[in-house]
Amino acid sequence: MKSTNLAYGSTAKTIHWISALLIFILFGTGFFSGSNDSQALKTLALQVHVPVASLVLILTIVRLVWWWKFDRKPAPLDTVPDWQNKAAKLVHKLLYLLLFVLLGSGITMSIISGLPFALFGDATLPIFDDLPPRTAHGLAARLAIAVVLFHAVAALHHHFIVKDNTLKRMWFSAKKQ
Ligand code: HEM
Repeated sequence: MKSTNLAYGSTAKTIHWISALLIFILFGTGFFSGSNDSQALKTLALQVHVPVASLVLILTIVRLVWWWKFDRKPAPLDTVPDWQNKAAKLVHKLLYLLLFVLLGSGITMSIISGLPFALFGDATLPIFDDLPPRTAHGLAARLAIAVVLFHAVAALHHHFIVKDNTLKRMWFSAKKQ
């Protein structure tokens, strides 16, 4: 379950890939709702968006506790210059920061607008456009897409160009030593 100096453990890998899938669903349902005028379709998208975001929140808390208390990250690979390993760490921190902004602004928006009563009760769907956290949410979402893309392209660069273990050690077939 735990990581070694060479590869991530099954707990870290499972949290990573489930979070990635759920965040992908959040981008889809979020932009679908944001760009739709139909109240029924917006409600449907947000009925998926909010529970999935709650799962991401729980997984993020579990992930932080896991790294803080129970596990250590594998050592950086020496296949690339040191500045690239430092840049990767910075990108990971930025991803966490954007995740916190998205979760924080989403929860704030939901509380001040009474969104749960519209999604799971019979209140009408609130208008989010004038709420300050809505602007932060939309901006953070666009930035997050750019950073996630950069993160994925960097992983593919390691795999196909540098041909090292960066991607393999985050996948389930990686050897543990
Ligand atoms: C990782 C976490 C999250 C991601 C990646 C995410 C993603 C998105 C995206 C991409 C949009 C569309 C932005 C736009 O059109 O400008 C959006 C809108 C929205 N999100 Fe999130 N979101 C997250 C968390 C949350 C949470 C925790 C809540 C509430 C509890 C929430 C509630 C909403 C609402 C109410 C909208 C506005 C929809 C509309 O304008 O029709 N989101 N989100």
